[in-house]
Amino acid sequence: MQLLDGKLISAQIKEELKVEVQKQIENGGKIPHLAAILVGTNGASETYVASKIKNCGEIGFRSSLIRYDSTVTETELLDKIIEINQDDDIDGLIVQLPLPDHISVDKVIETIDVRKDVDGFHPINLGRMAKGLPSYISATPFGVIELIKRYKIETAGKHCVVVGRSQIVGLPVSLLMQRNTYPGNSTVTIIHSRTQNLKEICLQADIIIAALGRPEFITADMVKEGAVVIDVGLTRVEDATKKSGFALKGDVKFDEVAPKCSYITPVPGGVGLMTIAALMTNTLLSARKEIYG
Ligand code: GUN
Repeated sequence: MQLLDGKLISAQIKEELKVEVQKQIENGGKIPHLAAILVGTNGASETYVASKIKNCGEIGFRSSLIRYDSTVTETELLDKIIEINQDDDIDGLIVQLPLPDHISVDKVIETIDVRKDVDGFHPINLGRMAKGLPSYISATPFGVIELIKRYKIETAGKHCVVVGRSQIVGLPVSLLMQRNTYPGNSTVTIIHSRTQNLKEICLQADIIIAALGRPEFITADMVKEGAVVIDVGLTRVEDATKKSGFALKGDVKFDEVAPKCSYITPVPGGVGLMTIAALMTNTLLSARKEIYG
């Protein structure tokens, strides 16, 4: 069993980006600039956004954090997005999810200029990705694919089972795994809360991508000997022994599943860190106008 070390690979990607940014600046190019909007005080969102901002600084990007109280109106938020869309210095804009119930996530995402949608959530980016056209690939699926690529894991002709059908992870990662390129060319099955013979399907998988957000859902009896297991789950679970009061749990029961795997991602230290590296990559692509010109 080999660990898919997201910590190591994301650090390598960050180093590569740092060199690229330096070169770009020396050649008179623009400093990539990411803007992040954070609404309310959700603990996990605070942590994620703080990490994104910190990573920008470490790589040499500019960043702007715009914070709103959870009582912000939808109109106020949309007006801010329109203002950022028109700001030529800002290359990438993300609105951290979840948002309060009175704000339409779809409206927010569709208001972001598709050329600045470095989260890849806009329907045009998702649609272009599905068609195999240049687009921003959302950070988590991008991170998963990059991890597979950097470890040179064979995907062609393999049965890849994606557990979970979210628009942010399950759906896009399943599209990526079936495309006619590497990583891809897998036979993909998406399973979800209404799937009946879930365990039997998982047992047929050469590659399992677990993205359902239920801690330790995937157990050893669901995994074939030699499978590749990629755990996208990252749920806060109360844990009085931790200073923070919580532990981060993946969707896979790591201790019992790991001995059966050829490769497996740890949690934390797996996919989570890769998503930030992917977001940073998208921001550089945007500053260079590589996707939309
Ligand atoms: N909430 C959970 N994951 C993400 C993400 O990748 N981007 C944004 N904007 N919000 C999220």
